[in-house]
Parts: sequence; structure tokens; C-alpha cells
Amino acid sequence: MSLDQYIAQLQQRIDDALDRSVPPASAFPPSIHSAMRYSLFAGGKRIRPILCIAAGHSVDNAPQGIEAAACTLELIHTYSLIHDDLPALDNDDLRRGRPTCHKVFGEAMAILAGDALLTLAFQALAQLPLGAERRVSLIQELSVASGTVGGMIGGQVADIEGEGQHPSPELLDSIHRAKTGALLRASVRMGGIFAGADAEELSALSLYGEHVGLAFQIVDDVLDVEQSSETLGKTAGKDAHQKKITFPAVYGLERSRQMADEERLSAHRALAPLGDRADRLRELADLIVHRKA
Ligand code: IPE
Ligand code: IPE
Ligand code: MG
Ligand code: MG
Ligand code: MG
Repeated sequence: MSLDQYIAQLQQRIDDALDRSVPPASAFPPSIHSAMRYSLFAGGKRIRPILCIAAGHSVDNAPQGIEAAACTLELIHTYSLIHDDLPALDNDDLRRGRPTCHKVFGEAMAILAGDALLTLAFQALAQLPLGAERRVSLIQELSVASGTVGGMIGGQVADIEGEGQHPSPELLDSIHRAKTGALLRASVRMGGIFAGADAEELSALSLYGEHVGLAFQIVDDVLDVEQSSETLGKTAGKDAHQKKITFPAVYGLERSRQMADEERLSAHRALAPLGDRADRLRELADLIVHRKA
């Protein structure tokens, strides 16, 4: 199977599992369920759940039911995007090629839709048909990666407070590792945990996830400079406008691209203990760095 086919097949399985885990738009109160579904089914790349499932496959050929766990990463990620776009944060009108959640449903409903996706993620993990120990590990991974200490929320705080500040390399690195890297690292770790990875496998996956996570946000910053809003499905050129601390701001475009590629190669090296079972993860690292949107 080609990588494109592999990804298309996983995207379908992920979308089906998301559809099962989110109440129908008609469920009472319908306004919140419509807002949740609007943002969730707007055509995201699904890179976090794909990494989760591919990591699971690198440990065990066919981990049964892994999509349900993988989906929780997309629930958290979509919540983080809805809130990231709010007027109080990045104030964006366009997301995944459509008007942002608050533009369509209003700020109150967008805040609540984010809250609801966040809460649903942990409900879904608690309900997985797995032994309690594995479920608790998954809940631990996702909560820490989404949290304030080195996790997504902590990174978002530093990103917002960093606007207009001197962009030092150290601050840049810590923002990116937290706001984006932590959830990507958790994606591969959760796939490994679900599939029963041993300590050596899990540490290889963690290191891979760290490198891929940093590469992902470097590329996001580069694309914000290089691409059009139409290609990205979100407003291009906003980082410079909002004086964000980004890789291009600190290192320039050329060096940023090189650094993303260095992270890609480090991600490959990290997978050595997993042998050819991790080939999909290698291909996904390449895709993350070479993507155009
Ligand atoms: C965008 O994430 C926000 C970041 C954390 C960089 P993605 O590029 O994965 O966005 P979608 O899910 O495909 O819309
Ligand atoms: C967002 O980073 C990271 C999140 C935790 C949502 P950005 O603000 O760079 O994401 P985009 O560019 O708006 O997608
Ligand atoms: Mg932001
Ligand atoms: Mg943003
Ligand atoms: Mg960005």
C-alpha cells in the first residue's frame, strides 16, 4: 500500500470513530453539538491520530480498536484550535478552509465547544475496552501533554505572552516543544502504550515524537510565511503581523528549513530499535517536513 493510500484509509477509520464518539448534532442541546461537529469535521489532516495508529502498528501488527484512543488526540487538538482562534488569542477568521467556530456560532458557543471536546476526550479514554492500568496510562499521557507544565496550555501561554518580546532561541524552543511538540510526542507514546510497547520501544517512540513534534511546528511557522491562506485553509502571514516568536523570526527561512530537516533525520535515527516495523513512522516524518500545507 502506498503512503497516500495508508493515510486515506486511516483518515476514514478516524473520521468514523470520531463520528461514533461525538453526540449527533440533533442531541440536546443541539447548538453545542453542531459547533463541535462543525470544527471537527472541517477536513483537518488528522496527523496526531495517524501518528498514534502508526506507532501502534510499529509495536503490534493490528492493535484492535486503537482508533478510539487515537481520536482523543484529535478531540484535544480541535479544541486547542477553536480556542487558539478566539479573539482573545490569535483572533483568526479562517480555519480548515472555513470561517472559524466563533465566527459561525459566536464566542460563547466556541468556548463551550472547546471545553466539550476537551472533556469528551477523557470520557472516551475512560471508556476504552482496555485494562484499567493501560487506560490510566493513556489518560496520564494526554492530560500531561495538554497541561500547563511543558504541555499545550503552557506553550500557548508562553506564545501569547511572547508576542512582541525579544525572540531568544531558548524561549522559542520551549514554546514550540510545549504548544505543539508535547501533543505530537503523546500521540506516538499513546499508540505505543495502547499496543503494549515495552520500555525500549516506548523510549524510541518518545524520542521520535519529540523530534517530529518540533519539526511540525517549525514547518507550521515556515508555511505561515511562504504559503497563501487559500493553500493553508487558515490566514497566512499572521505570525509576523502579531509579532510571534517563530523559527523564521529567530533564524530566517533558510536555516529554519534546515533545522526542520535535521529534526526529521533525528526522528529517523530514534526509530533504529524498532527496525522496519517503523517504516510508516519514517515516511510520516518525511511527510511532516516536506508538506506544503
Ligand atoms: C495546526 O495543526 C496547529 C498547530 C499545532 C501547528 P495542524 O496543521 O495539524 O492542523 P489541522 O488539524 O490539519 O487543521
Ligand atoms: C497553535 O499554534 C498551537 C495550538 C496549540 C493550537 P499556531 O497559533 O501557530 O497554530 P495556527 O498556525 O493558528 O494553526
Ligand atoms: Mg497560536
Ligand atoms: Mg494560531
Ligand atoms: Mg501557526
